[in-house]
Amino acid sequence: MDKHRMVLSLLVLAASFGLYDALLCNCTNADCEKQGYQCQTDGACMASTSVIEGVEQRVRACIPRDQLVPPGQPFYCLSAEGYLNTHCCYSDYCNSMDLQVHPVTAWPPLSYTEGWGPVEVAAAVAGPVFLLCVVLLLARFLFQHHQRAYGHRHRLDVEDPSTEHLYLAKDKTLQDLIYDLSTSGSGSGLPLFVQRTVARTIVLQEIIGKGRFGEVWRGRWRGGDVAVKIFSSREERSWFREAEIYQTIMLRHENILGFIAADNKDNGTWTQLWLVSDYHEYGSLFDFLNRYSVTIEGMIKLALSAASGLAHLHMEILGTQGKPGIAHRDLKSKNILVKKNGTCAIADLGLAVRHESITDTIDIAPNQRVGTKRYMAPEVLDETINMRHFDSFKCADIYALGLVYWEIARRCNEGGIHEEYQLPYYDLVPSDPSIEDMRKVVCDQRLRPNIPNWWQSYEALRVMGKIMRECWYANGAARLTALRIKKTLAQLSIEEDVKI
Ligand SMILES: Nc1ncnc2c1ncn2[C@@H]1O[C@H](COP(=O)(O)OP(=O)(O)OP(=O)(O)O)[C@@H](O)[C@H]1O
Ligand SMILES: [Mg+2]
Repeated sequence: MDKHRMVLSLLVLAASFGLYDALLCNCTNADCEKQGYQCQTDGACMASTSVIEGVEQRVRACIPRDQLVPPGQPFYCLSAEGYLNTHCCYSDYCNSMDLQVHPVTAWPPLSYTEGWGPVEVAAAVAGPVFLLCVVLLLARFLFQHHQRAYGHRHRLDVEDPSTEHLYLAKDKTLQDLIYDLSTSGSGSGLPLFVQRTVARTIVLQEIIGKGRFGEVWRGRWRGGDVAVKIFSSREERSWFREAEIYQTIMLRHENILGFIAADNKDNGTWTQLWLVSDYHEYGSLFDFLNRYSVTIEGMIKLALSAASGLAHLHMEILGTQGKPGIAHRDLKSKNILVKKNGTCAIADLGLAVRHESITDTIDIAPNQRVGTKRYMAPEVLDETINMRHFDSFKCADIYALGLVYWEIARRCNEGGIHEEYQLPYYDLVPSDPSIEDMRKVVCDQRLRPNIPNWWQSYEALRVMGKIMRECWYANGAARLTALRIKKTLAQLSIEEDVKI
Protein backbone atom coordinates (compact mmCIF):
# COMPACT_ATOMS: atom_id res chain seq x y z
CA MET A 1 0.00 0.00 0.00
CA ASP A 2 1.48 3.38 -0.90
CA LYS A 3 1.76 6.21 1.60
CA HIS A 4 -1.26 8.17 0.35
CA ARG A 5 -3.54 5.17 0.40
CA MET A 6 -2.40 4.34 3.88
CA VAL A 7 -3.15 7.89 5.10
CA LEU A 8 -6.56 7.76 3.49
CA SER A 9 -7.32 4.34 4.97
CA LEU A 10 -6.43 5.68 8.41
CA LEU A 11 -8.74 8.62 7.84
CA VAL A 12 -11.55 6.31 6.75
CA LEU A 13 -10.95 4.21 9.85
CA ALA A 14 -10.88 7.26 12.09
CA ALA A 15 -14.02 8.63 10.47
CA SER A 16 -15.87 5.36 10.95
CA PHE A 17 -15.08 5.47 14.66
CA GLY A 18 -16.21 9.06 14.85
CA LEU A 19 -12.73 10.23 15.81
CA TYR A 20 -12.27 12.58 12.95
CA ASP A 21 -14.99 14.80 11.60
CA ALA A 22 -13.69 15.42 8.06
CA LEU A 23 -15.95 14.32 5.27
CA LEU A 24 -14.76 11.75 2.71
CA CYS A 25 -15.90 12.13 -0.87
CA ASN A 26 -15.40 10.60 -4.29
CA CYS A 27 -13.17 12.71 -6.46
CA THR A 28 -12.47 12.75 -10.19
CA ASN A 29 -9.71 15.38 -10.29
CA ALA A 30 -6.32 14.28 -11.56
CA ASP A 31 -4.69 15.22 -8.28
CA CYS A 32 -6.99 12.80 -6.42
CA GLU A 33 -5.58 9.88 -8.38
CA LYS A 34 -2.88 9.17 -5.82
CA GLN A 35 -5.51 8.91 -3.08
CA GLY A 36 -7.58 6.35 -4.99
CA TYR A 37 -9.90 9.04 -6.37
CA GLN A 38 -11.04 10.07 -2.93
CA CYS A 39 -10.66 13.32 -1.02
CA GLN A 40 -11.50 14.71 2.39
CA THR A 41 -13.01 18.05 3.26
CA ASP A 42 -14.50 20.15 6.04
CA GLY A 43 -17.26 21.27 3.64
CA ALA A 44 -19.36 19.21 1.24
CA CYS A 45 -19.11 16.44 -1.36
CA MET A 46 -20.17 17.54 -4.83
CA ALA A 47 -21.27 15.57 -7.90
CA SER A 48 -22.11 17.23 -11.15
CA THR A 49 -22.92 16.26 -14.70
CA SER A 50 -22.69 18.75 -17.52
CA VAL A 51 -23.61 18.48 -21.17
CA ILE A 52 -21.71 20.81 -23.42
CA GLU A 53 -22.04 20.45 -27.18
CA GLY A 54 -23.67 17.10 -26.65
CA VAL A 55 -20.68 15.79 -24.65
CA GLU A 56 -21.52 14.61 -21.17
CA GLN A 57 -18.97 15.17 -18.44
CA ARG A 58 -19.15 13.97 -14.85
CA VAL A 59 -17.23 15.64 -12.03
CA ARG A 60 -17.00 14.62 -8.38
CA ALA A 61 -15.08 16.73 -5.89
CA CYS A 62 -14.59 18.01 -2.35
CA ILE A 63 -15.73 21.58 -1.70
CA PRO A 64 -14.00 23.23 1.27
CA ARG A 65 -16.32 24.79 3.82
CA ASP A 66 -15.12 28.31 3.21
CA GLN A 67 -16.09 28.01 -0.45
CA LEU A 68 -19.70 27.08 0.31
CA VAL A 69 -20.99 30.57 -0.35
CA PRO A 70 -23.55 32.02 -0.31
CA PRO A 71 -25.03 30.01 2.57
CA GLY A 72 -27.93 27.81 1.58
CA GLN A 73 -27.21 28.13 -2.15
CA PRO A 74 -23.46 27.76 -2.66
CA PHE A 75 -22.29 28.56 -6.18
CA TYR A 76 -20.46 25.30 -6.43
CA CYS A 77 -23.73 23.46 -5.89
CA LEU A 78 -25.89 25.27 -8.46
CA SER A 79 -27.48 23.57 -11.47
CA ALA A 80 -28.44 25.06 -14.82
CA GLU A 81 -31.33 23.48 -16.62
CA GLY A 82 -30.30 21.76 -19.80
CA TYR A 83 -26.56 22.11 -19.12
CA LEU A 84 -25.57 21.30 -15.63
CA ASN A 85 -26.97 19.17 -12.82
CA THR A 86 -25.09 19.56 -9.54
CA HIS A 87 -25.67 18.04 -6.14
CA CYS A 88 -23.88 18.80 -2.85
CA CYS A 89 -24.22 16.52 0.13
CA TYR A 90 -22.78 16.11 3.60
CA SER A 91 -22.18 12.44 4.39
CA ASP A 92 -19.25 10.22 3.48
CA TYR A 93 -19.10 9.28 -0.21
CA CYS A 94 -22.58 10.70 -0.78
CA ASN A 95 -21.50 12.02 -4.19
CA SER A 96 -21.25 8.61 -5.86
CA MET A 97 -24.56 8.96 -7.75
CA ASP A 98 -24.75 9.47 -11.53
CA LEU A 99 -26.73 12.59 -12.22
CA GLN A 100 -28.63 13.21 -15.46
CA VAL A 101 -28.92 16.57 -17.11
CA HIS A 102 -32.61 17.32 -17.45
CA PRO A 103 -33.64 18.62 -20.85
CA VAL A 104 -34.95 22.17 -20.90
CA THR A 105 -38.71 22.26 -20.78
CA ALA A 106 -39.59 25.78 -21.84
CA TRP A 107 -37.04 25.90 -24.61
CA PRO A 108 -36.73 22.92 -26.97
CA PRO A 109 -33.29 21.30 -27.02
CA LEU A 110 -31.19 23.06 -29.62
CA SER A 111 -30.08 19.96 -31.45
CA TYR A 112 -33.69 19.44 -32.55
CA THR A 113 -34.22 23.01 -33.65
CA GLU A 114 -35.01 23.03 -37.30
CA GLY A 115 -32.72 24.95 -39.61
CA TRP A 116 -29.75 25.39 -37.17
CA GLY A 117 -26.35 24.29 -38.38
CA PRO A 118 -23.64 22.90 -36.03
CA VAL A 119 -21.98 26.34 -35.68
CA GLU A 120 -25.23 28.00 -34.54
CA VAL A 121 -25.94 25.14 -32.16
CA ALA A 122 -22.42 25.38 -30.68
CA ALA A 123 -22.70 29.15 -30.33
CA ALA A 124 -26.13 28.94 -28.76
CA VAL A 125 -24.83 26.42 -26.19
CA ALA A 126 -21.43 27.93 -25.51
CA GLY A 127 -22.72 31.53 -25.25
CA PRO A 128 -25.04 31.08 -22.28
CA VAL A 129 -22.62 28.65 -20.59
CA PHE A 130 -19.83 31.21 -20.90
CA LEU A 131 -22.11 33.92 -19.55
CA LEU A 132 -23.16 31.69 -16.68
CA CYS A 133 -19.50 31.01 -15.82
CA VAL A 134 -18.67 34.72 -15.85
CA VAL A 135 -21.65 35.50 -13.61
CA LEU A 136 -20.72 32.68 -11.22
CA LEU A 137 -17.08 33.75 -11.02
CA LEU A 138 -18.01 37.37 -10.45
CA ALA A 139 -20.54 36.50 -7.80
CA ARG A 140 -18.08 34.15 -6.11
CA PHE A 141 -15.44 36.87 -6.02
CA LEU A 142 -17.88 39.36 -4.51
CA PHE A 143 -19.01 36.89 -1.88
CA GLN A 144 -15.50 35.86 -0.95
CA HIS A 145 -14.63 39.49 -0.51
CA HIS A 146 -17.67 40.04 1.68
CA GLN A 147 -16.99 36.82 3.54
CA ARG A 148 -13.49 37.89 4.50
CA ALA A 149 -14.95 40.76 6.48
CA TYR A 150 -17.76 38.85 8.13
CA GLY A 151 -16.47 35.37 7.48
CA HIS A 152 -17.36 33.45 10.51
CA ARG A 153 -20.97 34.55 10.70
CA HIS A 154 -21.52 33.11 7.22
CA ARG A 155 -19.82 29.88 8.04
CA LEU A 156 -22.23 29.50 10.91
CA ASP A 157 -25.02 28.79 8.47
CA VAL A 158 -23.27 26.22 6.35
CA GLU A 159 -21.84 24.06 9.08
CA ASP A 160 -23.52 20.74 9.40
CA PRO A 161 -25.32 20.68 12.76
CA SER A 162 -25.50 16.89 12.61
CA THR A 163 -22.06 16.73 14.23
CA GLU A 164 -23.20 18.85 17.16
CA HIS A 165 -23.82 15.76 19.29
CA LEU A 166 -20.12 14.89 19.07
CA TYR A 167 -19.32 18.03 21.01
CA LEU A 168 -22.37 18.46 23.15
CA ALA A 169 -23.24 14.97 24.34
CA LYS A 170 -25.13 15.32 27.64
CA ASP A 171 -22.35 13.98 29.83
CA LYS A 172 -19.68 16.35 28.48
CA THR A 173 -18.35 18.86 30.98
CA LEU A 174 -16.56 22.08 30.34
CA GLN A 175 -13.23 20.31 30.86
CA ASP A 176 -14.15 17.70 28.21
CA LEU A 177 -15.17 20.44 25.86
CA ILE A 178 -11.93 22.32 26.35
CA TYR A 179 -10.00 19.08 25.90
CA ASP A 180 -11.92 18.41 22.65
CA LEU A 181 -11.06 21.93 21.60
CA SER A 182 -7.36 21.53 22.16
CA THR A 183 -7.24 18.21 20.34
CA SER A 184 -9.67 18.93 17.51
CA GLY A 185 -6.88 19.57 15.05
CA SER A 186 -7.52 22.99 13.58
CA GLY A 187 -6.43 24.61 16.81
CA SER A 188 -8.81 27.46 16.17
CA GLY A 189 -11.75 26.43 18.34
CA LEU A 190 -15.20 24.89 18.36
CA PRO A 191 -17.46 24.92 15.30
CA LEU A 192 -19.64 28.00 15.36
CA PHE A 193 -22.98 26.27 15.78
CA VAL A 194 -21.56 24.56 18.88
CA GLN A 195 -20.30 27.92 20.16
CA ARG A 196 -23.79 29.34 19.77
CA THR A 197 -25.43 26.42 21.56
CA VAL A 198 -22.94 26.64 24.44
CA ALA A 199 -23.37 30.41 24.75
CA ARG A 200 -27.15 30.12 24.84
CA THR A 201 -27.16 27.55 27.63
CA ILE A 202 -24.95 29.54 30.02
CA VAL A 203 -26.61 30.84 33.18
CA LEU A 204 -25.15 34.19 34.24
CA GLN A 205 -24.32 34.39 37.96
CA GLU A 206 -22.69 37.70 38.93
CA ILE A 207 -20.94 40.65 37.38
CA ILE A 208 -17.19 40.52 38.02
CA GLY A 209 -15.86 43.53 36.21
CA LYS A 210 -16.47 46.43 33.88
CA GLY A 211 -14.15 47.57 31.14
CA ARG A 212 -14.14 49.99 28.23
CA PHE A 213 -16.26 47.73 26.02
CA GLY A 214 -18.80 46.30 28.42
CA GLU A 215 -19.23 44.01 31.40
CA VAL A 216 -17.65 40.74 32.42
CA TRP A 217 -19.84 38.12 34.15
CA ARG A 218 -19.20 34.80 35.79
CA GLY A 219 -21.54 32.23 34.26
CA ARG A 220 -22.22 28.52 34.77
CA TRP A 221 -22.23 25.92 32.06
CA ARG A 222 -22.76 22.25 32.92
CA GLY A 223 -21.42 22.64 36.43
CA GLY A 224 -18.33 24.65 35.47
CA ASP A 225 -17.56 28.37 35.63
CA VAL A 226 -17.06 30.45 32.49
CA ALA A 227 -16.36 34.15 32.00
CA VAL A 228 -18.76 36.03 29.73
CA LYS A 229 -17.74 39.39 28.34
CA ILE A 230 -20.86 41.21 27.19
CA PHE A 231 -20.26 43.98 24.68
CA SER A 232 -22.73 46.78 24.11
CA SER A 233 -24.29 46.83 20.62
CA ARG A 234 -22.23 49.91 19.79
CA GLU A 235 -19.09 47.83 20.24
CA GLU A 236 -19.93 45.20 17.62
CA ARG A 237 -16.65 45.81 15.80
CA SER A 238 -14.62 45.22 18.96
CA TRP A 239 -16.60 42.05 19.69
CA PHE A 240 -16.09 40.79 16.18
CA ARG A 241 -12.41 41.60 16.11
CA GLU A 242 -11.70 39.98 19.46
CA ALA A 243 -13.59 36.80 18.50
CA GLU A 244 -11.74 36.76 15.19
CA ILE A 245 -8.32 37.07 16.82
CA TYR A 246 -9.07 34.40 19.45
CA GLN A 247 -10.00 32.04 16.61
CA THR A 248 -6.72 32.51 14.80
CA ILE A 249 -5.51 29.09 13.87
CA MET A 250 -3.19 27.50 16.47
CA LEU A 251 -3.49 30.38 18.91
CA ARG A 252 -4.44 28.19 21.87
CA HIS A 253 -1.75 28.20 24.54
CA GLU A 254 -1.73 27.67 28.29
CA ASN A 255 -0.69 31.28 28.83
CA ILE A 256 -3.28 32.86 26.56
CA LEU A 257 -6.87 33.11 27.81
CA GLY A 258 -8.79 30.06 26.57
CA PHE A 259 -11.55 31.14 24.24
CA ILE A 260 -14.75 29.09 24.27
CA ALA A 261 -17.45 30.81 22.24
CA ALA A 262 -18.72 33.96 20.54
CA ASP A 263 -22.41 34.61 20.04
CA ASN A 264 -24.50 37.44 18.69
CA LYS A 265 -28.12 37.12 19.75
CA ASP A 266 -30.75 39.49 18.47
CA ASN A 267 -33.52 39.89 21.04
CA GLY A 268 -35.66 42.10 18.80
CA THR A 269 -34.57 45.40 20.34
CA TRP A 270 -30.81 45.10 20.43
CA THR A 271 -28.07 42.58 19.71
CA GLN A 272 -26.36 40.92 22.63
CA LEU A 273 -22.74 40.27 21.89
CA TRP A 274 -21.08 37.62 24.00
CA LEU A 275 -17.57 36.36 24.23
CA VAL A 276 -17.18 33.30 26.42
CA SER A 277 -13.82 32.25 27.85
CA ASP A 278 -12.25 30.29 30.68
CA TYR A 279 -12.97 31.78 34.08
CA HIS A 280 -10.10 32.54 36.45
CA GLU A 281 -11.19 33.25 40.00
CA TYR A 282 -8.13 35.33 40.92
CA GLY A 283 -9.18 37.82 38.25
CA SER A 284 -6.64 40.07 36.60
CA LEU A 285 -2.96 40.39 37.57
CA PHE A 286 -3.84 43.93 38.65
CA ASP A 287 -6.51 42.55 41.05
CA PHE A 288 -4.10 39.84 42.24
CA LEU A 289 -1.15 42.14 42.96
CA ASN A 290 -3.41 44.57 44.78
CA ARG A 291 -4.54 41.78 47.07
CA TYR A 292 -1.41 39.65 47.53
CA SER A 293 2.35 39.99 47.72
CA VAL A 294 4.40 37.22 46.05
CA THR A 295 7.43 35.11 46.87
CA ILE A 296 10.46 34.91 44.56
CA GLU A 297 9.00 31.68 43.22
CA GLY A 298 5.59 33.29 42.71
CA MET A 299 7.20 36.24 40.92
CA ILE A 300 9.18 34.01 38.56
CA LYS A 301 6.11 31.92 37.77
CA LEU A 302 4.05 34.98 36.88
CA ALA A 303 6.84 36.59 34.84
CA LEU A 304 7.91 33.44 32.98
CA SER A 305 4.36 32.43 32.09
CA ALA A 306 3.53 35.95 30.86
CA ALA A 307 6.66 35.87 28.67
CA SER A 308 5.68 32.41 27.34
CA GLY A 309 2.21 33.65 26.44
CA LEU A 310 3.59 36.75 24.73
CA ALA A 311 6.28 34.75 22.91
CA HIS A 312 3.59 32.43 21.55
CA LEU A 313 1.42 35.37 20.51
CA HIS A 314 4.34 37.10 18.75
CA MET A 315 5.70 33.99 17.09
CA GLU A 316 4.91 33.21 13.50
CA ILE A 317 4.63 29.47 12.84
CA LEU A 318 4.92 28.54 9.19
CA GLY A 319 3.03 25.75 7.41
CA THR A 320 -0.62 24.80 7.06
CA GLN A 321 -0.92 24.23 10.80
CA GLY A 322 0.97 27.44 11.49
CA LYS A 323 -0.07 30.75 13.01
CA PRO A 324 0.61 34.35 12.07
CA GLY A 325 2.64 36.62 14.31
CA ILE A 326 0.28 38.65 16.52
CA ALA A 327 1.04 41.84 18.45
CA HIS A 328 -1.25 42.61 21.42
CA ARG A 329 -1.13 46.43 21.55
CA ASP A 330 -2.89 46.70 24.93
CA LEU A 331 -0.72 44.70 27.28
CA LYS A 332 -1.14 45.70 30.96
CA SER A 333 -1.76 44.06 34.32
CA LYS A 334 -5.54 44.46 33.86
CA ASN A 335 -5.42 42.46 30.65
CA ILE A 336 -3.52 39.51 32.10
CA LEU A 337 -5.41 36.96 34.21
CA VAL A 338 -3.97 34.87 37.02
CA LYS A 339 -4.73 31.17 36.93
CA LYS A 340 -5.22 28.96 39.98
CA ASN A 341 -1.69 27.54 39.62
CA GLY A 342 -0.16 31.01 39.87
CA THR A 343 0.62 31.41 36.17
CA CYS A 344 -0.65 34.06 33.76
CA ALA A 345 -3.04 34.00 30.82
CA ILE A 346 -2.90 36.95 28.43
CA ALA A 347 -6.38 38.28 27.63
CA ASP A 348 -8.16 41.10 25.78
CA LEU A 349 -6.97 40.54 22.24
CA GLY A 350 -9.44 43.01 20.76
CA LEU A 351 -6.79 45.49 19.65
CA ALA A 352 -4.30 42.93 18.37
CA VAL A 353 -2.89 42.99 14.84
CA ARG A 354 -1.81 39.99 12.80
CA HIS A 355 1.12 39.87 10.42
CA GLU A 356 0.55 38.47 6.94
CA SER A 357 4.10 37.49 6.21
CA ILE A 358 3.62 36.50 2.54
CA THR A 359 2.67 40.03 1.65
CA ASP A 360 4.46 41.53 4.67
CA THR A 361 1.31 43.41 5.59
CA ILE A 362 -0.77 43.87 8.73
CA ASP A 363 -4.29 42.45 8.63
CA ILE A 364 -6.10 45.66 9.62
CA ALA A 365 -5.19 49.28 9.09
CA PRO A 366 -3.48 50.01 12.40
CA ASN A 367 -4.38 53.38 13.85
CA GLN A 368 -1.63 55.36 15.43
CA ARG A 369 -2.43 55.32 19.11
CA VAL A 370 -4.57 52.60 20.59
CA GLY A 371 -4.24 50.90 23.93
CA THR A 372 -3.83 52.33 27.39
CA LYS A 373 -1.92 55.63 27.58
CA ARG A 374 0.04 54.71 30.74
CA TYR A 375 1.50 51.64 28.99
CA MET A 376 2.24 53.25 25.63
CA ALA A 377 5.81 52.93 24.40
CA PRO A 378 7.73 56.18 23.72
CA GLU A 379 7.49 55.70 19.95
CA VAL A 380 3.70 55.33 20.23
CA LEU A 381 3.42 58.45 22.41
CA ASP A 382 5.46 60.63 20.05
CA GLU A 383 4.04 58.94 16.93
CA THR A 384 7.42 57.99 15.51
CA ILE A 385 6.50 54.28 15.38
CA ASN A 386 6.93 52.75 11.94
CA MET A 387 3.54 51.20 11.41
CA ARG A 388 4.49 49.53 8.14
CA HIS A 389 6.89 47.34 10.03
CA PHE A 390 5.12 44.64 12.05
CA ASP A 391 8.03 44.18 14.45
CA SER A 392 7.47 47.74 15.71
CA PHE A 393 4.25 46.57 17.38
CA LYS A 394 6.02 43.65 19.01
CA CYS A 395 8.66 46.02 20.42
CA ALA A 396 5.90 48.22 21.86
CA ASP A 397 4.40 45.14 23.58
CA ILE A 398 7.80 44.40 25.14
CA TYR A 399 7.98 47.88 26.63
CA ALA A 400 4.56 47.27 28.26
CA LEU A 401 5.68 43.82 29.48
CA GLY A 402 8.61 45.54 31.25
CA LEU A 403 6.13 47.77 33.09
CA VAL A 404 4.06 44.74 34.10
CA TYR A 405 7.26 43.11 35.44
CA TRP A 406 7.91 46.20 37.53
CA GLU A 407 4.39 45.92 39.01
CA ILE A 408 5.06 42.25 39.88
CA ALA A 409 8.59 42.73 41.26
CA ARG A 410 7.48 45.51 43.61
CA ARG A 411 5.18 43.00 45.27
CA CYS A 412 7.95 40.45 45.81
CA ASN A 413 8.27 40.03 49.57
CA GLU A 414 11.80 38.64 49.78
CA GLY A 415 13.72 39.52 52.94
CA GLY A 416 10.52 40.74 54.58
CA ILE A 417 10.50 43.92 52.47
CA HIS A 418 7.96 44.63 49.80
CA GLU A 419 6.28 47.69 48.51
CA GLU A 420 2.59 48.41 48.18
CA TYR A 421 0.99 47.90 44.81
CA GLN A 422 1.33 50.83 42.42
CA LEU A 423 0.66 51.41 38.75
CA PRO A 424 3.72 52.28 36.63
CA TYR A 425 4.53 56.02 36.68
CA TYR A 426 2.17 56.47 39.65
CA ASP A 427 4.61 59.05 41.06
CA LEU A 428 5.12 60.96 37.81
CA VAL A 429 1.71 61.37 36.14
CA PRO A 430 -1.89 62.02 37.33
CA SER A 431 -4.33 59.13 37.82
CA ASP A 432 -5.89 59.33 34.37
CA PRO A 433 -2.92 60.66 32.39
CA SER A 434 -3.30 62.26 28.99
CA ILE A 435 -1.01 61.35 26.11
CA GLU A 436 0.71 64.67 26.67
CA ASP A 437 1.34 63.87 30.37
CA MET A 438 2.87 60.55 29.39
CA ARG A 439 4.88 61.95 26.49
CA LYS A 440 6.55 64.58 28.67
CA VAL A 441 7.68 61.99 31.21
CA VAL A 442 8.53 59.05 28.92
CA CYS A 443 9.84 60.82 25.79
CA ASP A 444 11.05 64.26 26.86
CA GLN A 445 12.40 63.51 30.33
CA ARG A 446 13.16 59.90 29.41
CA LEU A 447 12.06 58.76 32.85
CA ARG A 448 11.20 55.15 33.69
CA PRO A 449 9.82 53.47 36.83
CA ASN A 450 12.34 53.33 39.66
CA ILE A 451 14.35 50.15 40.17
CA PRO A 452 15.28 50.09 43.90
CA ASN A 453 18.89 49.40 44.86
CA TRP A 454 17.99 46.61 47.25
CA TRP A 455 16.84 44.48 44.28
CA GLN A 456 20.55 44.00 43.49
CA SER A 457 20.92 41.88 46.66
CA TYR A 458 18.63 39.15 45.37
CA GLU A 459 19.56 37.34 42.18
CA ALA A 460 15.95 36.95 40.99
CA LEU A 461 15.14 40.64 41.55
CA ARG A 462 18.47 41.66 39.99
CA VAL A 463 17.61 39.65 36.84
CA MET A 464 14.10 41.08 36.76
CA GLY A 465 15.48 44.62 37.07
CA LYS A 466 17.93 43.99 34.23
CA ILE A 467 15.16 42.62 31.99
CA MET A 468 12.99 45.68 32.72
CA ARG A 469 15.78 48.09 31.72
CA GLU A 470 16.25 46.17 28.49
CA CYS A 471 12.49 46.36 27.79
CA TRP A 472 12.44 50.12 28.25
CA TYR A 473 15.05 51.34 25.76
CA ALA A 474 13.84 54.37 23.85
CA ASN A 475 14.86 52.57 20.67
CA GLY A 476 12.26 49.80 20.19
CA ALA A 477 14.57 47.63 18.08
CA ALA A 478 17.13 47.46 20.91
CA ARG A 479 14.65 45.87 23.34
CA LEU A 480 14.67 42.20 24.24
CA THR A 481 12.33 39.82 22.42
CA ALA A 482 9.66 37.85 24.28
CA LEU A 483 11.50 34.64 23.43
CA ARG A 484 14.77 35.99 24.88
CA ILE A 485 12.97 37.01 28.10
CA LYS A 486 11.32 33.60 28.29
CA LYS A 487 14.70 31.86 27.99
CA THR A 488 16.36 34.07 30.61
CA LEU A 489 13.52 33.49 33.07
CA ALA A 490 13.40 29.75 32.34
CA GLN A 491 17.11 29.64 33.28
CA LEU A 492 16.43 31.69 36.42
CA SER A 493 13.59 29.33 37.40
CA ILE A 494 16.03 26.40 37.22
CA GLU A 495 18.60 28.23 39.34
CA GLU A 496 15.96 29.22 41.90
CA ASP A 497 14.47 25.70 41.86
CA VAL A 498 11.00 26.92 40.89
CA LYS A 499 8.46 24.18 40.19
CA ILE A 500 6.32 25.17 37.25
N1 LIG B 1 -11.75 35.33 32.13
C1 LIG B 1 -11.87 36.02 33.24
N2 LIG B 1 -11.89 35.40 34.44
C2 LIG B 1 -12.02 36.12 35.58
N3 LIG B 1 -12.13 37.45 35.62
C3 LIG B 1 -12.11 38.14 34.48
C4 LIG B 1 -11.98 37.47 33.23
N4 LIG B 1 -11.98 38.39 32.25
C5 LIG B 1 -12.10 39.59 32.86
N5 LIG B 1 -12.17 39.45 34.19
C6 LIG B 1 -12.34 40.53 35.18
O1 LIG B 1 -13.15 41.53 34.62
C7 LIG B 1 -12.48 42.78 34.63
C8 LIG B 1 -12.92 43.60 33.45
O2 LIG B 1 -12.32 43.12 32.28
P1 LIG B 1 -12.28 43.97 30.96
O3 LIG B 1 -11.31 43.34 30.05
O4 LIG B 1 -13.64 44.18 30.45
O5 LIG B 1 -11.78 45.38 31.44
P2 LIG B 1 -10.35 45.84 31.94
O6 LIG B 1 -9.29 44.94 31.43
O7 LIG B 1 -10.41 45.99 33.42
O8 LIG B 1 -10.21 47.23 31.27
P3 LIG B 1 -10.04 47.53 29.70
O9 LIG B 1 -11.39 47.83 29.18
O10 LIG B 1 -9.14 48.70 29.70
O11 LIG B 1 -9.44 46.32 29.05
C9 LIG B 1 -11.01 42.43 34.68
O12 LIG B 1 -10.25 43.46 35.23
C10 LIG B 1 -11.01 41.18 35.54
O13 LIG B 1 -11.03 41.52 36.90
MG1 LIG C 1 -9.29 44.32 29.68
